[in-house]
Amino acid sequence: MNIMSGQCVFGQKKHLFFLPLSEKKKKNGPKSLRDLRAERQAQAERSVLVSCHPKTHENKFLKYLSRHGNVNKCFFYESFGTYAVVEFSNQDGVQSLLESAAMPSVSHESVVPLRSRLLSLRNVNTVDTDKQSAPSANHRELCPSTTHSLTDENTRLRFLVCSLLNDIAAAYFPQSSIKPFGSSVNGFGKLGCDLDMILDLDGTICVRPQPRSGMYMEYLVKRTSSERAVTQSVLSVIAGCLDQFGPGCVGVQKILNARCPLVRFAHQPSGFQCDLTASNRVAMRSTELLYLFGELDARVRPLVFTVRCWARAHGVTSPIPGAWITNFSLTIMVLFFLQRRNPPILPTLDRLKELAEPSEKCVLDGNDCTFTSDFHRISLETNTETLDQLLGDFFEFYSTFIFNRMSINLGRYGKEHKPELHPLYIQNPFETSLNISKNVNSSQLERFVTLCQESAWLLQSGSHLNTLLLPSHISVVRGRKKRKSQPASERIKGLLESLRIKNNVSFGFTVFFKNHCNKSL
Ligand code: GTP
Ligand code: MG
Repeated sequence: MNIMSGQCVFGQKKHLFFLPLSEKKKKNGPKSLRDLRAERQAQAERSVLVSCHPKTHENKFLKYLSRHGNVNKCFFYESFGTYAVVEFSNQDGVQSLLESAAMPSVSHESVVPLRSRLLSLRNVNTVDTDKQSAPSANHRELCPSTTHSLTDENTRLRFLVCSLLNDIAAAYFPQSSIKPFGSSVNGFGKLGCDLDMILDLDGTICVRPQPRSGMYMEYLVKRTSSERAVTQSVLSVIAGCLDQFGPGCVGVQKILNARCPLVRFAHQPSGFQCDLTASNRVAMRSTELLYLFGELDARVRPLVFTVRCWARAHGVTSPIPGAWITNFSLTIMVLFFLQRRNPPILPTLDRLKELAEPSEKCVLDGNDCTFTSDFHRISLETNTETLDQLLGDFFEFYSTFIFNRMSINLGRYGKEHKPELHPLYIQNPFETSLNISKNVNSSQLERFVTLCQESAWLLQSGSHLNTLLLPSHISVVRGRKKRKSQPASERIKGLLESLRIKNNVSFGFTVFFKNHCNKSL
């Protein structure tokens, strides 16, 4: 097997033009998120993560691995060291490799004897001993740039990290499973986004006594006052376990009093910032909804992705919690905008509910989360607007949106009246009494609106997208003093002049969309 025979070449420039997975998908129609997850999870379960010497010779390495089983896929990446993700064609390969692995013995330290699929290869026979040879060209940075969408490799690694963590959680809860949600799987993720995971205990909870067997598992089972208290104690134990025994898990923090209790930590070998929750079924369902919207029209993901990059470049969103608009809120804002095109590019959530089969009825924690996931049942009128038009109109739409009276609500048309006083009201799609943006204060909203106005103006004036993504070009709105000293029209005029001089080559937005959006799920 050639190490680069997988689906995606990544690297700063090469991966920009390589979209084989989405091409393949088109032939057979979109896959449900459930099927995609199952496929990715199965791949992860027959995979290992190996820390290697930077000069590991790929062919020798593969030869070594093939003694244990057929290798389906293998790729290297750099993240504070060189790692290889190796997927065998079945789990026997993993078992054989693990059986051949020894526990390290060091004289001055003791190690926790934990068997893990995170291995370290110290075999000199697989290392390129030629001192002159540069590290292999196939060893890539897994996150070449955070303005790119997730690659196939990055997605594989996300599922593998979940699977490795699940091995640890399964010591307590053998029927549990750790699943990714949020932007790692909804199709809107950027390289470098966090890894949101849920510890799904449904496999354990759903165990019912056999009819008439009379046998219950509850005998002397510990009880707590609420489901929230159960979640907190489960997460607390898992956090302790990750902290003490989890290979590569560092900086473990228990954030158990949050509305949604979670454990936050960094997984060093992958470089992912991880958030682990439990009993967060509604968020899983939101992920499915966002995934569905992303699949319904080819313009949705590029548009969301571009708006997210734009927002990040101008500090509208931030990785630090605060009064900013979150990526989740921003995504809902784009979807809402697309529902309001004429003809609509996306259906309302209520329409998706009406189209659901009785078998698709879904009530989670008392919330109606029903919608159809059957793409064949959803039909939409043809809308031929280009991405360029849509981006300009998105900025225009929110430049003039009446935020003080209207809410943003994916449910249905004509129900946008704002029920409370927060500056920005974005209704949670399923927990409909909740505002997902109640953290946003009026000055952040004002900044967002001003940036939308200026961006709409710049686009109308013929500037190209790349300039909108450079913070320096619109950063004038950041400094309040500058704003006061110069009227907006003057600022923009000056700005345009400078852009004309600096950017005499014009790129279409479509090129940007194509280059940065590499769908990988
Ligand atoms: P990035 O991580 O910023 O790329 O986007 P994300 O969509 O993954 O957002 P985040 O990590 O903040 O949250 C993960 C998931 O949790 C989201 O996709 C939502 O499903 C859910 N979520 C996030 N924020 C909220 C919120 O305020 N309310 C509710 N109910 N769910 C949320
Ligand atoms: Mg996230």
